[in-house]
Amino acid sequence: GAMKFTVAIDGPAAAGKGTISRRVAAEFGFAHLDTGLIYRATGARVLEGQDPLRAAEFLRLSDLERDDLRTPDVADAASQVAAIAEVREALVTFQRNFANREGGAVLDGRDIGTVICPEAEVKLFVTATPEIRAERRYQELTARGLDVTREDVLADVKTRDARDASR
Ligand code: C5P
Repeated sequence: GAMKFTVAIDGPAAAGKGTISRRVAAEFGFAHLDTGLIYRATGARVLEGQDPLRAAEFLRLSDLERDDLRTPDVADAASQVAAIAEVREALVTFQRNFANREGGAVLDGRDIGTVICPEAEVKLFVTATPEIRAERRYQELTARGLDVTREDVLADVKTRDARDASR
């Protein structure tokens, strides 16, 4: 039968993990989880008034299909819920279940190769300077029609780096 095979792709936001992950998943027929989306979906539920821990514990794959998860407000809420230890623990379980599915899985996001899937068969680390990452995120946001400036996006990348680094 099918077997588990985990590819862990680590690195900071907007470094190019998503593009590489989608291509690896397509090439080998593996399922793909952008782990930033689970923090974003939890953050989106919290913006709607839910308790952060309940939002994380009751998260489902279908929550990741919401079309409002790429907004700056949701990104900020995601970064805030990601700083809560109990929320991270609940989301670790979610990620490990996904990683162990039969037929192979690609997971991308911070801590994937170190904390979430230390036993992954393949690990990659992808990074770039804050300026390059901010430019990538700026292009993504403006392509979605959002009204942002390069300066704001760079400031946001740096703020989130500082918050994630002090976690
Ligand atoms: O990567 P993305 O910008 O979608 O992630 C949103 C937020 O979720 C990040 O700023 C970070 O705080 C959190 N996150 C995390 N660990 C991951 C993925 C995302 O803490 N593996």
